[in-house]
Amino acid sequence: MNYSKKNVKDVDVRGRKVLLRCDFNVPQDKATGAITDDKRIRAALPTIQYLLDQGAAVIACSHLGKPEPDFEKWAKKQAEKGKDPASLTREKWEKALEALCMEPVAQRLSELLGKKVVLAGDVVGPDAQAKAAALQPGEIMLLQNTRFEKGETKNDPELAKAMAALTGENGVYVSDAFGAVHRAHASTAGVSAYLPAVSGFLIEKELEIIGGALADPKRPLVAILGGAKVSSKIGVINNLLEIADTIIIGGGMAYTFARAQGGSVGDSLLESDWLDYCNEMVAKAREKGVKLLLPVDTVIADKFAPDANSQVVRNGGIPDGWQGLDIGPETVKLYCEAVEDAGTVIWNGPMGVFEFEKFAAGTRAVAEALSRTSAITIIGGGDSAAAVQQLGYAEKMTHISTGGGASLEFMEGKELPGVACLLDR
Ligand code: 3PG
Repeated sequence: MNYSKKNVKDVDVRGRKVLLRCDFNVPQDKATGAITDDKRIRAALPTIQYLLDQGAAVIACSHLGKPEPDFEKWAKKQAEKGKDPASLTREKWEKALEALCMEPVAQRLSELLGKKVVLAGDVVGPDAQAKAAALQPGEIMLLQNTRFEKGETKNDPELAKAMAALTGENGVYVSDAFGAVHRAHASTAGVSAYLPAVSGFLIEKELEIIGGALADPKRPLVAILGGAKVSSKIGVINNLLEIADTIIIGGGMAYTFARAQGGSVGDSLLESDWLDYCNEMVAKAREKGVKLLLPVDTVIADKFAPDANSQVVRNGGIPDGWQGLDIGPETVKLYCEAVEDAGTVIWNGPMGVFEFEKFAAGTRAVAEALSRTSAITIIGGGDSAAAVQQLGYAEKMTHISTGGGASLEFMEGKELPGVACLLDR
């Protein structure tokens, strides 16, 4: 796939209306709706500010959460989750949608920009149309949650056309929603059929750094893969086996590897369907001359809780009634040494249950080691980004991706529809 895409500087946006797709899918406090982490909004600011400074009128849009815009489907899904059908009223559904309105995002964006952000009451309806028509150069508005439209996730051409039409005669589409580029939706890909489509600075930076590390890494390239499940990392492991010099395995998925190699893993996370796959990967790594490092010891707990009793045992020697929740001290030493002389480190997935202080040592030690190396350090979004943030090492990393699923699919070598649809340079 070609990652060399035109960006906002390649088009003259002065006096034009720009439909700007951002990823403002930010975490919110369940009770109050307050945004608990505004990183994704901040990450879009350079592009927004540039467009406003250039005299464009900016029509920003994003999804927020996973609203179900069809009442019948919503009620069916809730019933499947075990909710009492009698309680599944239209009122309740509307409340669920209301909780995913863009108001808090508009407010935060306005605070960060230091200027008014006009909020539309719909996505392509009369309110959005009127507000877009009245928008002047240097002004910004935000559409309602794009997923309030049934056509959004279906990549409906009619919706894409209607969104593009908000820009009037001579519009431009700019995508800066890196976190959503793996989605072929109306607002992330479909609109490119109706408007000249270029990238913003955030997408450009993500493509440059992650794409660069995958295509032409400063070696040795060390990939650290953690997280709960082997099954969610298959594509990444497969792709990185072709590229990396060293692959380090940690987190819950290490126990499936340990079991595959004949070890006992007690009550640890185990994906029995993937045992053969793990063995194949070990063999493939050997064949390709890729160093595959697996934990040698592990911190086990007598329950999945922050106050569980714990002890360190050999990995693969976990007694029944106990479960592994972190890599052990010998493994930490091994893994930290492996990143010391790296040229590039890509990290995706924590080493243990870092949310519990007692089991955060492995993830913390790896983050600390990365903060000390002179390597280019790239942190995949999602859990690993949260871990680095929570443990206080975010500032020390070269790049923390704003994409969770998107960065994972990028590392899998998959085509990203939200990137593929942009104009080639
Ligand atoms: C994310 O949070 O990873 C992106 O915003 C994409 O969200 P989605 O998984 O709901 O499509």
